[in-house]
Amino acid sequence: MWILESQRSAYVLGVFPEGGLQHLWWGPRLTDPSDYPTPGAHPEHQAGGINAGFVPEEYPAWGGMRFTNPCLKLTYADGGRDLPLGYRDHRITGDALAVALADPYEPYGLSVTLHYQIVWAHDLVVRWAEITNGGTAPLDLEVALSAAWNLPPDRYALWHLHGQWGAETQIEQQVLAVSATVTLESRRGQTSHVANPFFALGAAGRVEEEQGRVWFGALAWSGNWRIAVQSTPAWTQITGGISDFDFRWRLAPGESFHTPPFVGGYANDGLGGASRRLHRYQREEVLPSSGRWQPVLYNSWEATTFHVTPEEQMVLAKRAAALGVELFVVDDGWFGTRDNSHRGLGDWFPSPTKFPQGLGPLIAGVQDLGMDFGLWVEPEMVNPDSDLYRAHPDWILHFPHRTPSQHRNQWVLNFARDDVRAYILEILDGLLTQNPIAFIKWDHNRPFSEPGWPDAPAIHQREVWVRHVLGVYEILDRLRALHPGVIFETCAGGGGRVDLGILARTDQAWASDNTDPFDRLRIQEGFTAAYAPRAMVSWVTRSPTWAHGRHVSLDFRFHVSMAGTLGIGDDIRNWSPEEMRRAAELVALYKEIRPLVQGGDLYRIRSPREGSETALCYVAEDRSAAVVFVYQHHTGPLHPARSIVSVRIPGLDPSAHYRVSAERVRLFGGASLHDRPVSGSALAEVGLCVEGLDADYASAIVQLHRI
Ligand code: DGJ
Repeated sequence: MWILESQRSAYVLGVFPEGGLQHLWWGPRLTDPSDYPTPGAHPEHQAGGINAGFVPEEYPAWGGMRFTNPCLKLTYADGGRDLPLGYRDHRITGDALAVALADPYEPYGLSVTLHYQIVWAHDLVVRWAEITNGGTAPLDLEVALSAAWNLPPDRYALWHLHGQWGAETQIEQQVLAVSATVTLESRRGQTSHVANPFFALGAAGRVEEEQGRVWFGALAWSGNWRIAVQSTPAWTQITGGISDFDFRWRLAPGESFHTPPFVGGYANDGLGGASRRLHRYQREEVLPSSGRWQPVLYNSWEATTFHVTPEEQMVLAKRAAALGVELFVVDDGWFGTRDNSHRGLGDWFPSPTKFPQGLGPLIAGVQDLGMDFGLWVEPEMVNPDSDLYRAHPDWILHFPHRTPSQHRNQWVLNFARDDVRAYILEILDGLLTQNPIAFIKWDHNRPFSEPGWPDAPAIHQREVWVRHVLGVYEILDRLRALHPGVIFETCAGGGGRVDLGILARTDQAWASDNTDPFDRLRIQEGFTAAYAPRAMVSWVTRSPTWAHGRHVSLDFRFHVSMAGTLGIGDDIRNWSPEEMRRAAELVALYKEIRPLVQGGDLYRIRSPREGSETALCYVAEDRSAAVVFVYQHHTGPLHPARSIVSVRIPGLDPSAHYRVSAERVRLFGGASLHDRPVSGSALAEVGLCVEGLDADYASAIVQLHRI
């Protein structure tokens, strides 16, 4: 029996008397370790044994009398498909446990090592599995998930993230019906806009933003994935990993298959507590660390779309520099014959007509203005009308005798192929070596279709789903190693590829093409349910946006974007002197509060899904300072206090006193806080009244400093 304790939670597993691996406990850490459940003592087990499938297992393989979702299903060379895994041995290294299971029929030589890594400070366990063929014949994996998580019987609610292009990461909640399975998944070759590999569960009706017991998890995989939540009368099981849809993996003798990590956690302080644990973990252990805050960027996509010229980019760059922007990014349209979405993708050299002297003069001009230079690429794609496709028509995903579907006039390059990866790595490495480029936005504008790999032996062709993703990871890892200073941004037609796998290799993510600030509040709420605000890039663009006719003030637009990594994406050539002046002030304010937004703990005080206001607070890890964002979306019916929003501020040190920066702020029903320090407990219990929010889309930022 192993007890994996973290600061406030525990995860316990043990060997069944029959030999398999039993799940025993996941939840709060108990004072006395002898109180954790022990192997074989589960009432269902005593009634029926593990083979009746009534007792939660750590990594159920399909076989015997098991009917819940398996983590592992395979076919041996002799057609055998039954898999009774038994305990073999284990290894403990620091905070990591590895438990090896094996098929008892030794000639098959099949072993599965389950890995558990405790993240002590944040109550997380990172799990993955390593499946090894130690026999003499090949075998085929048909399901090979990362982990099964088990919860005690209860009536659970499930929180997850769904969406579509332009409306990513929408929080959805549903109560789970007993004996039903809810499947969250992507079969699109990318993480997807429609669902995101994150879940949170808690007893229905007993979980709130800052209260209640929550079990949660996030999968580190950027291709097809599946998380299935299955409620049985005896327990609730969550299985997750690479999707088994159209999956088959030939495992030759001596080979191993490594599943992606699946991070799970337990929080006793609600959905907000779950998010903060994931955020801290990402800040400390997942996101690459440059040792700097993410820069304020300008991206010229919405200003110039495909019509990129060095002259106009320099006009924009001068305006951006005047605003205090630190990174100037040229998006799509700088390369090959890319004048529109129909051509040029794949030809990653500066357009000879737009940049006859290469990128050098523009980069130098941007750097002379005191900014870094960044560039957009979409390396996994080609247009049919491109030199690359004409030279290598066999490099795209396709099936024999079929014309693959185009989407945005493009096809997907097959990154499972060694020659494709070698070519793309050489091209991107060359681009970064020859030019002082500080930032790459890596886009991916279509899902997979017709995922054929006709040149591979038939038995390996379905591996393309997984090998493509591993290929993307390999290239990003190689580029990061070769060019350690470069910042990478993940983008997939907006937020179609945001997950812990890609975020281990990219510093930030483009959350959505929809920059309408009110829509963004919801998108950002869902994004931060699972992912750190530091990773969430948010641009200020024109108002109204293409998405709505909604007119929103410059301040509100900035305030929404300042709740993540701030960017500007509007055509700033059109901004009036007053807009330029105010924007420069807001950029300067963002730089002041950036350590809190990018490095602090987020409390979602009021949700944009409920009521007419949203409020957020970011608190320094040492609670020495905080910044509060208050957004009024719709002023209510006329009453005297209609222009006031009151918010209680959690997360501060209750016994410390804080100085409040804004002038039009008072304690609820009490004194003005201008020049009057206020205790953390009063801020948490009485709360602030922010005055003057007397119009739709009015907003305020309040800074708090401990004295
Ligand atoms: C989709 C991205 O989400 C946009 O920001 C932009 O980069 C376009 N692609 C360019 O084609």
